[in-house]
Amino acid sequence: MRITIIGCGYVGLVTGGCLAAVGHHVTCVDNDAERIRALVAGQIPIYEPHLDELIARARSEGRIEFTGNLSGAIEAAEAIFICVGTPPLDNGEADLSAIDAVARVIATESRGSKLVIEKSTVPVRTGEQLRRALEVYGRAGKAKFEVVSNPEFLREGSSVLDFLHPDRIVVGVEEPAAADKMREIYRPILERKFACPVHSGGCPQGAPPQFFVTTINSSELIKHACNSFLALKISYANQLADLCERLGADVEEVTRAMGMDPRIGPQFLNAGIGFGGFCFPKDIQAFYRLAERAGMDFMLLQEAERINKDRIDHFVEKVKRSLWVLKGKQVGVLGLAFKPNTDDIRFAPALEILRRLLAEGASVRAYDPQGMKKTQAQFPTVTYCRDPYEVAAGADAVLLLTEWPEFRELDWQRVHNQMVRPLVLDGRNLLNPRRMRDLGFEYHSIGRPD
Ligand code: UDX
Repeated sequence: MRITIIGCGYVGLVTGGCLAAVGHHVTCVDNDAERIRALVAGQIPIYEPHLDELIARARSEGRIEFTGNLSGAIEAAEAIFICVGTPPLDNGEADLSAIDAVARVIATESRGSKLVIEKSTVPVRTGEQLRRALEVYGRAGKAKFEVVSNPEFLREGSSVLDFLHPDRIVVGVEEPAAADKMREIYRPILERKFACPVHSGGCPQGAPPQFFVTTINSSELIKHACNSFLALKISYANQLADLCERLGADVEEVTRAMGMDPRIGPQFLNAGIGFGGFCFPKDIQAFYRLAERAGMDFMLLQEAERINKDRIDHFVEKVKRSLWVLKGKQVGVLGLAFKPNTDDIRFAPALEILRRLLAEGASVRAYDPQGMKKTQAQFPTVTYCRDPYEVAAGADAVLLLTEWPEFRELDWQRVHNQMVRPLVLDGRNLLNPRRMRDLGFEYHSIGRPD
């Protein structure tokens, strides 16, 4: 099928790259000329495992192209995925102006029949507004639109895997015919008929993805409901961790046992310095604002958000308890990205901690496998190191703020030898407390006995 992707951000590139990889002809459009120039030159502006090889292969097979020409891309498309950003406004609601602008162009430039799919995370009832906008802006009668909601459940760092091997594909439609067209788009994924870039030796056999058809309103709600629930789960684990610290229990033992209950499940129960990224913080806010406008006080979500913000205070307090005065101390930071396997630093808890350390007069040396370039622009006074050992050299403390697996594999004896004071504060419970103490570290983590 001929598919156009509007918006070459993270979701747009993964959607476009994966749909091209499974056999569709994809045109990706963006109004950022610099971004398009880089993409045309073969550069992928985000770090996402497997995405570059996937796009390079599709490009060499002539199945993906990048352009700034929105009108042309709309005209040629049978299906249009809207993947533009919906950043938070000052009041926490989602800014839908990019969707409105795109709707205007789709409406004026389309001829014939188009499937218009909202992939961007949007509040409930955006589909209704989108349908109305297409009618209002459209040249009456020249085009027929079917609006579909198709939320993404992609995790940064493993989004190619998530796209090609989803648990479920949710499509919200007005008419069954639109669901049939969506099933056609996703058929190679539903039937697992594609060359998988993630599992070169053959994909693991598991249950096939569920294709779940709903109304548009339900589909839009599902995305916010999932993200907010996962955020709640993390905040619950974090409160448990605080209680464990007061009562001398070990949060890892508690959450591991909880996760053995299939009704609870083991994922998203890792305590630490809290959730970040561009999805959870903004989605949870957008969701309770939406509830508020519908006349409902969704206090449970506000509380989860408050607990998450408190994680930073809690951790900085721990650092201060260990170091007493921060002014003049040399603090090493391992990890800047909001999670491993990404260079994304948006709303990263590590950055807020960095800000506090600098404000208190500490001198900071930092390392992250992917996130340093972006952090440098915001924090020019930090010293960025070539590796974790350089971070440790002369440090009064090392803080572990993103759970990159490679930090677990470090030669911690070497780290120890390089530090002025062998103090490690592990904000992600990545390391083994006993092992760290055996190596002679003063080691503190979250919700585990010191
Ligand atoms: C999330 C959803 O998982 C995904 O389905 C949705 O489409 C987009 O939002 P993402 O933002 O990429 O994905 O990251 P995710 O892996 O969910 O982690 C979010 C944050 O929570 C990270 O900062 C992570 O470190 C933190 N986290 C996660 C915890 O603190 N504890 C956990 O147990 C899990």
